Amino acid sequence: MRIYLLLAFILLGVVPLSFFTYVLLNTYEEKTINSRIEELKSQGMILSNILYKSVYLTNGSDPVIDANINRIADIYDGRIIIVNNTLMIVKDTYSIAKDKYLISDDVIRCLSGNTVIPVNDRKAGHLKLTYPITHKDTKEILGAIVMSFSTKDIHSIRSSMEQRVLLFAITLAVLIVVFSVFFSGILTKPLTSLMHSINHITEGYMDEGISIKGYNEIEKISDAFNHMLSQMQKLESSRQEFVSNVSHELKTPITSIKVLADSLLAQEDAPVELYREFLVDIVDEIDRENKIINDLLSLVKLDKKAGDMHIAQVNINELLELILKRLRPIAQKRNIEMIFESFRPVIAEVDEVKLSLAISNLIENAIKYNVEDGWVRVSLNADHKYFFIKVADSGIGIPESEQDFIFERFYRVDKARSRESGGTGLGLAITKSVIQMHHGAIKVYSKEGEGTTFNVRIPLNYVS
Ligand SMILES: Nc1ncnc2c1ncn2[C@@H]1O[C@H](COP(=O)(O)OP(=O)(O)O)[C@@H](O)[C@H]1O
Ligand SMILES: [Mg+2]
Repeated sequence: MRIYLLLAFILLGVVPLSFFTYVLLNTYEEKTINSRIEELKSQGMILSNILYKSVYLTNGSDPVIDANINRIADIYDGRIIIVNNTLMIVKDTYSIAKDKYLISDDVIRCLSGNTVIPVNDRKAGHLKLTYPITHKDTKEILGAIVMSFSTKDIHSIRSSMEQRVLLFAITLAVLIVVFSVFFSGILTKPLTSLMHSINHITEGYMDEGISIKGYNEIEKISDAFNHMLSQMQKLESSRQEFVSNVSHELKTPITSIKVLADSLLAQEDAPVELYREFLVDIVDEIDRENKIINDLLSLVKLDKKAGDMHIAQVNINELLELILKRLRPIAQKRNIEMIFESFRPVIAEVDEVKLSLAISNLIENAIKYNVEDGWVRVSLNADHKYFFIKVADSGIGIPESEQDFIFERFYRVDKARSRESGGTGLGLAITKSVIQMHHGAIKVYSKEGEGTTFNVRIPLNYVS
């Protein structure tokens, strides 16, 4: 990550700089050479205008013209050679080649075509201009002026500029590297420490959480992460509590069975009646164990979530009637009146088996935690969106301080009473879970000694 940032910074800084410099220097060189050529052309023209009238081209002896040529060669610090149309050199400012012949490509081309020929030899570092001498009136070509000058000065300016730019580019690159190490550090540091924290937590140091201050977005991520972490911690501790509750609940009946069996074994000649009595108790405990296991299994199945919902159009009136019919015998034993009120026919999309279990649990509780000769009133209503089931009883009620906990697994207000009536403490947990799976809600209103009301609200149409 860091190395990529670094490369990006360098590319963005140094590459455009180098390219720009290259283009700039080339343009500079080209322009300078071109303006040299123009200057030389005008000097060539002046000389040609003097020369065509004179006999200089045949004998090369005219002190005024000589002086002029020498002066120009001096100004440009170069060499001027004059040849006539027989290619004989009549003047050489270096005075080495006079009276010899100059047979060069440029001169021949110049004489035959009457054209100015500039040649820029970059490698050798000189500029050569061959200028024709033409008679103004007859247009006859009389000879050529060959001017050659060094371009070393131009090249040396270029190379010194190149050096300076190179130095600048290196300085810039170093600065970029320093800055990008610094800035990419600033950018990646919080991410790196976030990563370290997450790894640390993954290794099992769950209680620590993340604290990264001063970076807005990263702070938000770590807040969100910490929130998730605390949810996980809650989940984990409730899981641990559940496991320890389960083993405790499952052990209780087995311990009782063991005690009953042991005490029978301890008596040498126990009477048959005693065996009978103890065996009845043992069967009761086995039934209880069975019930706990069944309730646990339903709860575990529900925990698997929405996947195995069997949604169908269900007549809720009929469903409630059926549940009440099934539970009436239990109510009758304690002379509890069962009332069903329906305000309208309700058909809803629900999982019939699960909902039946949830509502049965509520009505069972209303009977179990009731008083002799009490009543249980179940009512059904609906609006355009939801149906409402209310289970009210005239029972013992739930103390306000306990109302928050009754939906928790294995929670019982009065353990002895619950046990007596075959409760496992899982009923309301199952009910709540089922209602949540239908995206509904459940609320409890209760007053100790007066009675309890559970209100259930479930959408008529199931949304997965
Ligand atoms: N209708 C009710 N009236 C009074 N107390 C109730 C009622 N329903 C539930 N409770 C209390 O809530 C506890 C949890 O209920 P539940 O989960 O069904 O477990 P269980 O009935 O097996 O004890 C019960 O033990 C009881 O103390
Ligand atoms: Mg119950």
